[in-house]
Amino acid sequence: IWAVVRTSLHMGIECVGIRRGYHGLINGDFTKLTFESVSDLSRRGGTMLYSARSEEFKTPAGQERAVATCKMLGLDALVGIGGDGTFSGLLCLAKRGLSVVGIPGTIDNDIACSSYTIGYDTACNTALESIDKLRDTMQSHERCSVVEVMGHRAGHLALTVGVACGATAVIVPEHPVDYEADLLEPIRRARLAGRTHFMIIVAEGVEGGAYSIGKVIEEATALDTRVTVLGHIQRGGSPSSRDRITATYMGYEAVRLLAEGKTCRVVALQGENYVDYDITEALQMTKSLDQHTYEVMRALTGVH
Ligand code: F6P
Repeated sequence: IWAVVRTSLHMGIECVGIRRGYHGLINGDFTKLTFESVSDLSRRGGTMLYSARSEEFKTPAGQERAVATCKMLGLDALVGIGGDGTFSGLLCLAKRGLSVVGIPGTIDNDIACSSYTIGYDTACNTALESIDKLRDTMQSHERCSVVEVMGHRAGHLALTVGVACGATAVIVPEHPVDYEADLLEPIRRARLAGRTHFMIIVAEGVEGGAYSIGKVIEEATALDTRVTVLGHIQRGGSPSSRDRITATYMGYEAVRLLAEGKTCRVVALQGENYVDYDITEALQMTKSLDQHTYEVMRALTGVH
């Protein structure tokens, strides 16, 4: 928001912020965004514009009302920050004649067209900080910790966090779990090597979640096991430098595209480069778990 507003003002473009996403667009809930009102935003968690899901926007009548609000406010273009749902909404508005650009923002890193989504790094760091703290108790009591991290249906967050914290095992929804090979064997091997506490990272998208994995471990190994679901703590806090920088570049790119007369695009990061895709094309793309990171995880956890 900060980068979009500051870049726009630099180009002589005025901005308003729509509160509560498409819900606010339908109901004309907006606030004028000025140079000063967005000051300091890049270091704050959450969003000053609030966030909401809108069932009404999914209907043609809701979309008509949203377009009417844009006309009433005299908006030339709309920048939407979010995931696939946000982009699908932008596509509906583009089909009704509005100029739109999307920016990928989600802690799940599950937007196919972009190798990175805003919020991911901060969520990884928050999860790691919590896991480091959990480890102290697990080490003292010689226990097994099963930590569930977010990620919606994807295992990107779990895999990155698992590798970064040196987990004993990482369970993700993209790969069917073989309890023996992927979970119990790494624990037994670590135990034989002299380890007395264990850290298992589970993605929330895994069937049964962390509690079912904890049960399997306790029954099979008799280890004193504790389950922790990190939950929404991963979605807050002051953004990391990577997130601030990425958000800044993406905000700048979104305004640049619109100022050049482009529309129906999604800003994306590919390697070191900021690129853009047609929204329809972006929504059709699929993203798989990074195979190399998965192999690294298996090597580090000793899975054969
Ligand atoms: O998409 C972000 C995310 O935090 C997911 O990781 C999680 O599954 C979901 O949102 C939680 O949604 P809610 O806050 O509506 O419970």
